[in-house]
Amino acid sequence: MLYEKYRDEIDAILARYPSKRSALLPVLYIAQDAYGRLDDASIREVAEILDLPYTDVFEVVGFYTLFYNEDVGKFVLDVCDDVPCCFCGAEELVADLEQRLKVKAGYTTDDKMFTLRRVKCIAACDQAPVLQANLEFHYKVTPDKVPALLEDLRRKVESGAQISISGRFAEH
Ligand code: FES
Repeated sequence: MLYEKYRDEIDAILARYPSKRSALLPVLYIAQDAYGRLDDASIREVAEILDLPYTDVFEVVGFYTLFYNEDVGKFVLDVCDDVPCCFCGAEELVADLEQRLKVKAGYTTDDKMFTLRRVKCIAACDQAPVLQANLEFHYKVTPDKVPALLEDLRRKVESGAQISISGRFAEH
């Protein structure tokens, strides 16, 4: 099913590599976007497409925190709470998001729009405090900027724009 639906995209990825195994991560991104998470069935499907043992794919999915085995929101908000971001207000940012979204970090809002997570350094310390929305960076995010940011993300969903929880369409 995955292959039939995304044949052109998957074939283009496979053409980039000398072995199918090397295409594992990008094909998993497609599967994750298609199914909303990577459960046993989708892992098996990817394994079949790439002629890999199920356990090889399972291990990769379990290793990376950017692969989700439970449903997430349309946007995964990763807020950096490492030391430099904390010095610049990361805790205040997390608290503000938790209050606005009515959800604790680590959980998904009732409307399934946002999953809020804490992450460690995402390599943009000079722009602290930083968050990523579906892996797209947002810099110097102070609480006063949060309402406009959330509104913008909601508008993207309403407009029918392509959304990728795997970050395939992140621009920076
Ligand atoms: S500490 Fe937050 S991006 Fe490095």
